[in-house]
Amino acid sequence: MKRNIDEITGGRRMRRNRRFDWSRSMTRETQVTANDLIWPIFLIEGNNRREPVGAMPGVERLTVDLAVEAAKYAASMGIPAIATFPDIPIEKRDARGSAVMDPDGIINAATTAIKKAVPEIGIITDVALDPFTSHGHDGILKDGIILNDETAELVSKAAVIQADAGADIIAPSEMMDGRIGAIRDALDDAGHQDVAIMSYATKFASAFYGPYREAVSTGDLLQGDKKSYYLDPANGTEALREAELDYNEAADMLMVKPGMPYLDIVYRVKSEFQLPTFAYQVSGEYSMIMAGVEKGFLDHDRAIIEAMLCFKRAGCDGVLTYFAPKIAKLLEDGWQF
Ligand code: PBG
Repeated sequence: MKRNIDEITGGRRMRRNRRFDWSRSMTRETQVTANDLIWPIFLIEGNNRREPVGAMPGVERLTVDLAVEAAKYAASMGIPAIATFPDIPIEKRDARGSAVMDPDGIINAATTAIKKAVPEIGIITDVALDPFTSHGHDGILKDGIILNDETAELVSKAAVIQADAGADIIAPSEMMDGRIGAIRDALDDAGHQDVAIMSYATKFASAFYGPYREAVSTGDLLQGDKKSYYLDPANGTEALREAELDYNEAADMLMVKPGMPYLDIVYRVKSEFQLPTFAYQVSGEYSMIMAGVEKGFLDHDRAIIEAMLCFKRAGCDGVLTYFAPKIAKLLEDGWQF
């Protein structure tokens, strides 16, 4: 009793809607636009200088003047915001990450310069100490322990300095307990009620940050690992509890990091809290795709667009991605999904 296909499917032929470009466009559930992109940019000191990041083909560290040009380009492509990360000279780093407090450091200088030249683009800054410490940890290290409360206090002060420089969104990535509330209080006390907080609410102790650590020169400095403050990649329920705390501490937006291996977390966080939810497609994800492309194993354009679609489908309102300018260009050139 061999049934024919219409008997098997009851006539429900799913391929009907997939026949043509127009019917696929008409039934597509998820869209990708330049508005979904946040572009992370690495900064170095000096003038008119760019340095390639070895582990991230196509990514460069930029001096502030060139970062301004990058921001202009981003704005012209419809990218709503950039996120800045510093690679400062090793001799400026110390055990407490004091340089984070320098109002004239490259992060703050870039914010001021970009705000002046491109006021229409949003600027997201990080207060984590790792690019500023001599040991590469995100917090103050004492007797082998990352001090929670002292770090939360320091990053709250750094947040105010970054807001003074013109940052629109403070995105603390160091995962100390209570930091969202502490930063909110500090910003409010300083009159920065309108500066938002994007919480790296669920940041996992991940192998996928490797290339970033080359970009900001923390890889060789880092002593031990970050498992005492970042989440265990095995734990989804604990990640939701982290997000809940940050929600209750008045985070304006939540982020999941890394991105693609953690789309289940994106889905759960978005469903549960309904805040604007972002994912960080981190350096290792970037480098994996680029390595596959360089080997000839992957089609670059299709891979990076597909990744964006998947982030959106999982519930992301936007994605921090080093591919941002490339994706914006593909879209502008009329990418056919
Ligand atoms: C640390 C920080 C990390 C990233 C940004 N800020 C992780 C780390 O080095 O532990 C990773 C970003 C990336 O991999 O693209 N506060």
